[in-house]
Amino acid sequence: MDVTQFLQRLHSTPHTAVTTAVAVAIGALFLILVKNLVHKRKPKSPPAVPGWPLIGNLLQLKEKKPYKTFSRFAERYGPIYLIRLGASTLFVLNSVDVAKEAMVTRFDSISTRKLSHALKLLTCNKTMVAISDYDDFHKTVKRHILSNVLGTNAQKRHRVHRDIMIENMVRRLHEHVKSHPLEAVDFRKIFQSELFRLSMKQALGREVESIYVEELGATLSSEELCQVLVLDMMEGAIEVDWRDFFPYLRWIPNRSVEMKLQRLCFRREVVMKALINEQKKRIASGEELNCYLDHLLSEASFLTDEQLRMLLWEVIIESSDTTLVTSEWAMYELSKDLNRQGYLREEIQGVCGPNKITEENLSQLPYLSAVFHETVRKHSPAPMVPLRYVHEDTEIGGYHIPAGSEIAVNIYGCNRDKKYWEKPEQWNPDRLVDDKLEPVDLYRTMAFGAGKRACVGAYQAMLISCTSIGRFIQEFSWNLRGGEEENVDTVGLTTHRLHPLHVLVKPIDP
Ligand SMILES: *[C@@H]1O[C@H](CO)[C@@H](O)[C@H](O)[C@H]1NC(C)=O
Ligand SMILES: *[C@@H]1O[C@H](CO)[C@@H](O)[C@H](O)[C@H]1NC(C)=O
Ligand SMILES: *[C@@H]1O[C@H](CO)[C@@H](O)[C@H](O)[C@H]1NC(C)=O
Repeated sequence: MDVTQFLQRLHSTPHTAVTTAVAVAIGALFLILVKNLVHKRKPKSPPAVPGWPLIGNLLQLKEKKPYKTFSRFAERYGPIYLIRLGASTLFVLNSVDVAKEAMVTRFDSISTRKLSHALKLLTCNKTMVAISDYDDFHKTVKRHILSNVLGTNAQKRHRVHRDIMIENMVRRLHEHVKSHPLEAVDFRKIFQSELFRLSMKQALGREVESIYVEELGATLSSEELCQVLVLDMMEGAIEVDWRDFFPYLRWIPNRSVEMKLQRLCFRREVVMKALINEQKKRIASGEELNCYLDHLLSEASFLTDEQLRMLLWEVIIESSDTTLVTSEWAMYELSKDLNRQGYLREEIQGVCGPNKITEENLSQLPYLSAVFHETVRKHSPAPMVPLRYVHEDTEIGGYHIPAGSEIAVNIYGCNRDKKYWEKPEQWNPDRLVDDKLEPVDLYRTMAFGAGKRACVGAYQAMLISCTSIGRFIQEFSWNLRGGEEENVDTVGLTTHRLHPLHVLVKPIDP
């Protein structure tokens, strides 16, 4: 029956009953259509990892490195899935695409971070650019840290300190070879202490050989300062169990851990106080230096004493952390892979000839840049981003993410995404110098985050690491000490090497 027949029939049948029937039919059809449309429009929920009722997926997360568990789930459930932990719903993002979408495009819906008690202690209740909420305080202090320490122009003004740092490291390596030609050198010890000097100069204007700290009743040497301000605090951060990333577990570090953290924070506070007071005397006597303290005192008088201490400390710890982890892993990988080490040396030789590599030369050394980026990909300094809270309904990867849930970005998973990286477990800088690829951009690997909350120290880390690695390769040949290859455990939630890298270095005859 075609339409004309249907209409003719319609006209030949009693009017009212038919109109009603047709109206009802059309109405129903319309409803179904609309419902379908709405359904198509409204994105669905991502797959859920099956777990136990009530405790949800808690038992599956017992291992110390949850980012590995998350990556395993991703192989089965895709780049975005949800897990339930107690009463909370957590969306886990495991691929570059969805993570970038969350951190850049959907940023406004998901910026607040939850911190555990231990992390609150360590960060003085989020008084740090890296971890504060995205509010006015954050925007203001970020502007200061960029304009005075970590931004491109600020880094130009601090250039002289970096050059000195590299000369010192190379000199110390040569001294080691002269006095102990057959012994492996403790790479971390040299790199860390020189990096600490650099960060003190950027923060306070000068190196501090020693200082009397009244509350401790002791005079601390430069090494002891590094211990209190950097090493102890990093160790404290390592004590922070992964469970801290899930505050609703109501997991409280045991009493001894908590007391230890409190002690560490107290020592940090009194040492920073003493350092700042000493520099204030210098400023009062009319001597100004290009450093973060002088800048904050004159430009940010609204800061409380505690905020001032924490912001200065942040510059010290951040300079010392990512850069060290990345350089140490890069030298490990190069010492293990003599072919690529040789290839890198040839590249530098081709560009710089007999001259020492400088920062200006970096843009002409794509392989060196690839070595750096491949290292942060494989050994991401921060494998997970602290949880973020979703405060309004949003959409990621085509899925619906309701307000009230939480988001975890598995950076480690993003950087080992098999769809994005071929043989992701291999360290292979060659993959980043392929002709097809655009020049390596700082944020391609996600190791430094993305969007408004990307790591502000990434540029400095890149400058220091690349120039140092280049210079090390120019001046020495590098070999792993026997047994070093198995010696690569990482600590806790971080990708810090548990054992400092020991390498055999041999000067290269010019
Ligand atoms: C931490 O900061 C928040 C908001 O800035 C405040 O409400 C809270 O009381 C602070 N907690 C501590 C322990 O200082
Ligand atoms: C507390 O934690 C520390 C360090 O993780 C551990 O050595 C100690 O045994 C723990 N103590 C208790 C009572 O659980
Ligand atoms: C390397 O940098 C130095 C300045 O630091 C510059 O004089 C030299 O020309 C650069 N070399 C190349 C090949 O660009």
